[in-house]
Amino acid sequence: MKKAIVTGVTGQVGSYMVEFLLKFTNVEVYGAIRRLSVPNHQHIEHLKSNPKFHLVEMDLGDEHSINACIEEIKPDYFINFAANSFVGLSWKMPVNHFQNNTMGVLHQLESIRKHCPKCRYYNAGSSEEFGDVIYSPQDLEHPSRPRSPYGASKVAARQIVKVWRDSYDLFAVQGYLFNHESERRGEEFVTRKITKGIAKIKQAIESGNGFEPIELGNLEAQRDWSHAEDFVRAVWLMLKEDKPKDYLLASGETHSVKEFVDLAFKYAEIKEAEYHWTGSGEEEVLYFKDKPVVKVNPKFYRPAEVELLLGDPSEAQKDLNWEKSVSFDSLVRRMITNDIEQL
Ligand code: GDD
Repeated sequence: MKKAIVTGVTGQVGSYMVEFLLKFTNVEVYGAIRRLSVPNHQHIEHLKSNPKFHLVEMDLGDEHSINACIEEIKPDYFINFAANSFVGLSWKMPVNHFQNNTMGVLHQLESIRKHCPKCRYYNAGSSEEFGDVIYSPQDLEHPSRPRSPYGASKVAARQIVKVWRDSYDLFAVQGYLFNHESERRGEEFVTRKITKGIAKIKQAIESGNGFEPIELGNLEAQRDWSHAEDFVRAVWLMLKEDKPKDYLLASGETHSVKEFVDLAFKYAEIKEAEYHWTGSGEEEVLYFKDKPVVKVNPKFYRPAEVELLLGDPSEAQKDLNWEKSVSFDSLVRRMITNDIEQL
């Protein structure tokens, strides 16, 4: 049986990747996890009894642990979803982002080159690599213009993937992933922060209790949001291509943070809902009757913002025969419904 190492399996997209591989392929999956003092296995708990799934320990910041796993398992596929993925934090911990997102990739590729050069390698690239975009929709030709240490770390990783591919004839790719969300999204990202916050507000309103408004940063930022589950099949298809090639995965639509808020309130179906926005910029507030439910706090602004992302997924659609299955509307509905149910 062929073997795949998948990193980042305790996170959102890594856990969907493992589910996909176990369900639709005949590959033995080694889920690489980083030891934490409090284990965060909630997204993979249901997979642990599967005889084709094993957990191994690897830390992107520890070259030895990367090499030891690859030398022992000698995988046929290596899918790297582990990363420091929160853009907002990357200004506060820039070195850490480069160590994990860039040097971690270099160590993985070096180890693959030495121990299993036929292994097919995927690293998660990001639309943050496009940064302050110069045209829309962004495609594979769009230049790299990162705006954050996170974006720069992914651009640097892309160059490493290319050099190792060209120099050692490795099958190594870094597909661009535009924003991908789900019911498993971390609560520091804007979509989940909104849906979780609204679910709590709904509960408070409907039980007659008080609540604090949700505080957000840039409401005008526009993102190309998809459901994370939609991307994992395409990642697998990239690894099954005849030749290594980077593809771009996106929904092909862009929406502002404010639109996301409006839609999430709509699907929250709060009784006697009656909202109105007032003010603009830092003074912008969304009211439910006379109570603020969303307000702007400049502390969530970024030192340099990516204002607009919109991807052109047509090459992936054509070559990989891939299509998204979840619309923006259903993505928001699923996330808010899940958060309401969880409460
Ligand atoms: N996190 C956060 N919190 N973002 C906010 C907030 C807030 O309170 N208010 C507004 N925003 C804006 C951010 O400024 C940004 O423009 C947008 O909402 C999305 O922010 P995030 O959800 O944190 O995601 P991201 O776009 O920065 O990065 C995500 O997508 C990338 C692909 O484009 C991450 O998943 C990255 O790892 C991924 O590479």
